[in-house]
Amino acid sequence: MTELAATAVTGGIAIITLDNPPVNALSAPLRASLLRALKQALGDTAVTAIVLICAGRTFIAGADITEFGKAPQSPSFPDLFAAIEQAAKPVIAAIHGTALGGGFELALACHYRLAAESAKVGLPEVHLGLLPGAGGTQRLPRLVGAEAALDIITSGRQIGAREALALGLVDALVSDSNLRKGAIAYARDVVAQGSALPKARDRSDRIAADREKPTLFSDFAAANSRRFKGFAAPRAIISAVQAAVELPFEEGLTREAALFEQLVASHESAAQRHVFFAERAAGRVPDLPADMPIHEIHSVGVIGAGTMGGGITMNFLNAGIAVTLVETTQDALDRGVTVIRRNYEATVSKGRMRAEQVEQRIGLISPTLDMAALSDVDLVIEAVYENIDVKREIFGKLDNIVKPGAIMASNTSFLDLNRIAAATRRPESVVGLHFFSPANVMRLLEVVRGAKTSKPVIATAMHLAKRIGKVAVLSGVCDGFIANRLLAPRGAQAEAMMLEGTPIAEIDRVLVEYGFAMGHFQMMDLVGLDVIGRDATERTVMGDLVAAGRLGQKRGAGYYDYDDKRRPSASATTADMIDAVANARNIASDPTVGSEAVLARLLYSVVNEGAKILDEGIALRASDIDIAAVLGYNWPVYRGGPLFWANQIGLNRIVAEMRELEGRYGEAFRPSDLLVRLAEKGLVFGDAA
Ligand code: 3HC
Repeated sequence: MTELAATAVTGGIAIITLDNPPVNALSAPLRASLLRALKQALGDTAVTAIVLICAGRTFIAGADITEFGKAPQSPSFPDLFAAIEQAAKPVIAAIHGTALGGGFELALACHYRLAAESAKVGLPEVHLGLLPGAGGTQRLPRLVGAEAALDIITSGRQIGAREALALGLVDALVSDSNLRKGAIAYARDVVAQGSALPKARDRSDRIAADREKPTLFSDFAAANSRRFKGFAAPRAIISAVQAAVELPFEEGLTREAALFEQLVASHESAAQRHVFFAERAAGRVPDLPADMPIHEIHSVGVIGAGTMGGGITMNFLNAGIAVTLVETTQDALDRGVTVIRRNYEATVSKGRMRAEQVEQRIGLISPTLDMAALSDVDLVIEAVYENIDVKREIFGKLDNIVKPGAIMASNTSFLDLNRIAAATRRPESVVGLHFFSPANVMRLLEVVRGAKTSKPVIATAMHLAKRIGKVAVLSGVCDGFIANRLLAPRGAQAEAMMLEGTPIAEIDRVLVEYGFAMGHFQMMDLVGLDVIGRDATERTVMGDLVAAGRLGQKRGAGYYDYDDKRRPSASATTADMIDAVANARNIASDPTVGSEAVLARLLYSVVNEGAKILDEGIALRASDIDIAAVLGYNWPVYRGGPLFWANQIGLNRIVAEMRELEGRYGEAFRPSDLLVRLAEKGLVFGDAA
């Protein structure tokens, strides 16, 4: 049997190398192998110290997430970590890449921690709806104090080696190329000094000081209540860290373990783990071989310097890629560049960017009024307003300008990509790259595959998304692609309920209670009703609001009235308009009553649309639809997305309730074929139907 943890002894130092690709997750077989290696090294009289180091691209990235929810396998984390911490010989963790979660907790159980200069450490369990369950909530506060521990564990942030050293999370840094040698030298020094072995569990100075601050935990919870809203893990983390301060180490560990068990069994954590794997699955396109050649993208052209074009441009500047930015007037061009500069300056003022980086990034832009300047770029993204004729004209022109092999992308959010591609002689080079606003912030990128888009172009787009920090979801061509089409029925139902007399504040409240940052009408007001402007065929409240100059938050009035702090309140004017439109359209008063009924109308319609998107092959897999909702529309991550949520409710129940809704409200609630098929077979989204 090949050992996942292999030992080599040099000059009395046992170097145990952990090798469990791709990220050295601390699976049961790895834990068992490490424990064997550790015992052997401890029993070997020739060994004076032990170095734990990892092969491959990273130190241990955490517990093996796929083991959660399965029967526990020995050795357990506490047993393994106790064996390390109680070892009679010094144990030194030599960290490169990222030591995360259970991986960093293992390092905390070692007597010494050494990090390569580019290494990062962190406890990201919170992102999976969990807390560090292998001693992290007990050892970390003892090393850095409760305040720093709360910040690190509730944020889940990755901490660079230098900051880790300053905080006392690691003991020393070595250059990246020298980790192994540096660790051996460090081990020799430790042995030579012969001092008592430091154990995080025995440190008491920090937590003794924390005991003097009785309101520390309640203050922290209060200061972060907005950020933690809806999540169970941060509350559990606060409680576990409080246990570290108040209880003896072993009792604290027991408390941590109990809280971990609760979280790991929760819907929220299951949803967040689903999202973790869904994000990674989204990048896989079954008919693209892994070794598909991709186009090199060194330079990009963006057509349109408006809100979308500017945001799109920033993604590439941030990744160090030069952008030729094209506009039709000098004024629009100057305005676009100014907005980009202001955005960067705002980032600098928040301390998240260095001042000199602003000029570096702006320096990567070549602003121009001449499309001919795009002749040499590797990729062009068109981001002008949504009009098929304008887009076709631009693509026709581009066809005569850009070099052979260049990728031509449209940021259209609902137009027919195939018609745009047909305006060129090279539809195989045309792809949709649909960014979400604000394009420099939102992580979703829909890569739209036209009927003739070539495989290398798709592969390039998927790869490029990762390079600019986006999560790509592949979509077929349809009106609205995945995310906008998916969420459209939510808006339609919100408006239908409004006209039937359900108060808009009630509709919004139900969405916020479910976990959305804001409700439908609040979102409309934020975006601006004139921006959304749809070609309505009948009289709408939105149309009337726009006609009355109530354009949303920016004008202090939209669906809601706003005070000078942009706080919304119900508007009598809007209420009158709703009545007038309902009368004009002969819609009888029939308010939907109760949170559950409102929620069912809003979200079952989304689930149903998701099923259609999946059945039509527009999305590759159910989890891609969830990712589109989570990353494109801020669907609460602890609900896992609409289809994961539907699975948890039970598809049978949803179909039954939808049939009732269909009887009352008509076709919008007719359960889709796929939904019915899955429910009848007792299957869930994600199963092959
Ligand atoms: N368990 C199981 N699989 C994991 C894993 C883990 N902890 N971490 C990563 N993987 C898998 C991914 O699913 C992916 O698989 P795939 O190739 O089949 O899609 C593969 O490893 C590579 O991962 P990435 O694509 O994410 O690679 P990157 O290089 O982009 O990122 C990383 C590497 C920063 C380590 C990132 O994978 C990551 O953040 N991993 C999760 C870290 C984490 O959350 N750790 C805490 C786990 S919970 C825990 O430790 C509980 C403990 O307290 C008891």
